[in-house]
Amino acid sequence: MSFVFLGPPGVGKGLIAKMVHEKTGIPHISTGDLLRDAAKNGSKEGKKAREYMHKGRLVPDHVVIDLVKRRIAKRDCKKGFILDGFPRRLSQAKALSKSGIRVEKVIDFKASHDTIVWRIKGRRICEKCGAIYHVENVPSKKEDICHKCDGKLYQRDDDKPGAIKKRLKVYHKKTEPLIGYYKKKGILIEVETEKPIPQILKETLSILK
Ligand code: AP5
Repeated sequence: MSFVFLGPPGVGKGLIAKMVHEKTGIPHISTGDLLRDAAKNGSKEGKKAREYMHKGRLVPDHVVIDLVKRRIAKRDCKKGFILDGFPRRLSQAKALSKSGIRVEKVIDFKASHDTIVWRIKGRRICEKCGAIYHVENVPSKKEDICHKCDGKLYQRDDDKPGAIKKRLKVYHKKTEPLIGYYKKKGILIEVETEKPIPQILKETLSILK
């Protein structure tokens, strides 16, 4: 069974998807993570992707679609997976549908603009295991260090004020139309995220059942 986690940057898609993966074993495919890994590995496409991400723009479709296809082809995805950050525009949704992958449900995570900006500004990531923290709301038990693996915490390049503004603009223009696209298909479910994380997780798990 395949699921899509939709929603603006910083709404909490990644955090909840990681928790669902820990609880259920369903693979979590984040195109942001795939692209950041590609950029770190220094491949030609990775370097190109970094330029787009740094500016808060969408990476060209052929790069992202190729990464997703390769990831989905892996054995652990045979029974299903969660797509987080993909599709992100209509052309990607159509490519996904053409590839024969049946999306079971799409969860549209919601939060106010101010909450989103606050969450992005305070986000810190572990450079070793990718755990997601927030300096105020989901802090690590060790200052600047991940309490799960002792990796160093860092702030993403695109979590700085200039890029946040651009990412939100791109979201409203390119990604928001997907809400209508999946609503028409009758598979969209909204989840409000201005509530405690365990509650959001519980709601999400019951939708994925
Ligand atoms: P990507 O990495 O996908 O970033 P994003 O979509 O902008 O989403 P975020 O990771 O910012 O937000 P999230 O919803 O996962 O929030 P999180 O769980 O971390 O993409 C980055 C870039 O890659 C894009 O800009 C683009 O350039 C490129 N890209 C990626 N996919 C692409 C595609 N398909 N096509 C083209 N280009 C693509 O939570 C945020 C913070 O809030 C955390 O600190 C967390 O601890 C905290 N938090 C979360 N939930 C709660 C809660 N309920 N209460 C309190 N705090 C919370």
